[in-house]
Amino acid sequence: MSAVNEKKVAALEAVKFIESGMNVGLGTGSTAFFMIEAIGEMVQNGLHIKAVATSNETEKLARKLGIDVITLAQAKRLNVTIDGADEVDQDFQLIKGGGGALLREKIVAHNSDLNIVIADSSKSVKKLGKFKLPIETIPFATQLIIKELEGMKLSPVQRLKDGEHYRTDENNDIIDIDIWDADVKLTTLEQQLKTIPGIVETGLFLTTTNIVIIGEGDQAVVKK
Ligand code: 5RP
Repeated sequence: MSAVNEKKVAALEAVKFIESGMNVGLGTGSTAFFMIEAIGEMVQNGLHIKAVATSNETEKLARKLGIDVITLAQAKRLNVTIDGADEVDQDFQLIKGGGGALLREKIVAHNSDLNIVIADSSKSVKKLGKFKLPIETIPFATQLIIKELEGMKLSPVQRLKDGEHYRTDENNDIIDIDIWDADVKLTTLEQQLKTIPGIVETGLFLTTTNIVIIGEGDQAVVKK
């Protein structure tokens, strides 16, 4: 079964956790797309929820499908968030941000009672780091941060789109770094990165995930 179908299978399993009256965090990306589409259908069939979007793209799609989108401030707290990942390991640690929405995604995850990650089977890994870790930086500091990350042997590459610097929804830059050979624990690496002024957020999600749902063939494997 293709990765696309596995994404859909995982997404359809995840939306079973949603009930009327909930505040729901909506992730970003091609896997989250199937979850938003399914919620849109549930709303058409009478489900009442309010949703907080993790990106402009997600907000646009959700509104188009008739989902009531509110701000995080209005929601105050989310009952459940469903989001994709670029990599997920056995300890529910993630690399996220391939789609550039890591900052809002991490804020939403932090403010959610239950975080469900959905992914196709290719995203499930023994060790994080084949996928380059995205970090979001303030444009004023980006070039100096790149120099500092080079000094840390993390092979930083500023993300581009159409030949221009990629810009996040928050108007920041993304630098993708190679952590595969980083000789420190992920928690230490996260702390080290966050002490560099101008790094707003990293795509390491180490403690927020409660449930992982992997599409494996035509089965959804739910890990708690
Ligand atoms: C966006 C993300 C996505 O969840 C991640 O990139 C996975 O995307 P996809 O489901 O398209 O593979 O973190 O910032």
